Amino acid sequence: MTIPTDNFKKYLQSDAKLVETYIETEITKMQCVPERLKMAMRHATLEGGKRFRPFLTLECAAMFGTGREAALPVAAALECIHCYSLAHDDLPVMDNDKLRRGRPSVWAAFDEWTAILAGNALLTLAFEILAREALSSDSKLYNKLLLEISRAAGAAGMVGGQCLDLESDKLGEPTIVDINYIKRMQIMKTGALLRFACEAGAILASASDCDCKAMNKYGYYIGFAFQIADDLLDVESTTEQLGKTAGKDDKAGKATLVKALGGDRAREQLEQIRSTALALLKPYGTQAKLLKEATHFVTTRRS
Ligand code: IPE
Ligand code: IPE
Ligand code: MG
Ligand code: MG
Ligand code: MG
Repeated sequence: MTIPTDNFKKYLQSDAKLVETYIETEITKMQCVPERLKMAMRHATLEGGKRFRPFLTLECAAMFGTGREAALPVAAALECIHCYSLAHDDLPVMDNDKLRRGRPSVWAAFDEWTAILAGNALLTLAFEILAREALSSDSKLYNKLLLEISRAAGAAGMVGGQCLDLESDKLGEPTIVDINYIKRMQIMKTGALLRFACEAGAILASASDCDCKAMNKYGYYIGFAFQIADDLLDVESTTEQLGKTAGKDDKAGKATLVKALGGDRAREQLEQIRSTALALLKPYGTQAKLLKEATHFVTTRRS
């Protein structure tokens, strides 16, 4: 496989291609699946999407000496979970978004029940991929990954964070300006999967406990920063640029740091988090070149 040797964008693109091909093959080869469900799963996962979570897994693994091919099933499983979370997040009963990745969201392209089922099927597919790897390779390592991804995706991670997000939105809780509530929510709903993305790379490479912890911590900050940037972009960017409806959070009464602190202070927080994340990469020197660029990308991205 030829990996471009220059900059971050090229790696992001080539890693995305690997992940898309992997997911497409998985869905195509599924047997006895209703065609409608397959089409919705394809719609939810293929075309568009930065693939930033799988990129982090592949590049963290690479930094510790494990090839991208070996890390690919975990990276793809994680992207399946992320895509399921988006398919559900867009549902009318959740964020009610018709646009995702510049195209109709899954429920808008099909209908609500199909989007729910496609999301469920993608979540299950992620676990099927990982369980298969556990059977065919190092089962102890994959059991660890299964445990960590379950925690990241579940009630104490992404799903729990979505619950906090919707409680403040739908129930109009006064928590809307409670900064600790917002931080907790962001770290769970978005941070948990990004944290797993980074730690998984180190686990896959059988890195030392100390390195696994460092990547876990790095992922924590990257995840937190990623959602602050998402909330800033909702205010500062356009629907065309984002490929999803801009300016929705305020209208929907979402609890965000931008709302609680204002744009300038939210950006200051983002800059502080960037410095902390970069400091965690310092011990890895030039080996961490791509991750340093990724850190920069999180805080400067335009979509
Ligand atoms: C959007 O995630 C949802 C959040 C957690 C903020 P991304 O910005 O990674 O979305 P895609 O995958 O690139 O479309
Ligand atoms: C979504 O956060 C986080 C998920 C776990 C899916 P948002 O609701 O802000 O994400 P977008 O803006 O719709 O992509
Ligand atoms: Mg949401
Ligand atoms: Mg949303
Ligand atoms: Mg958002």
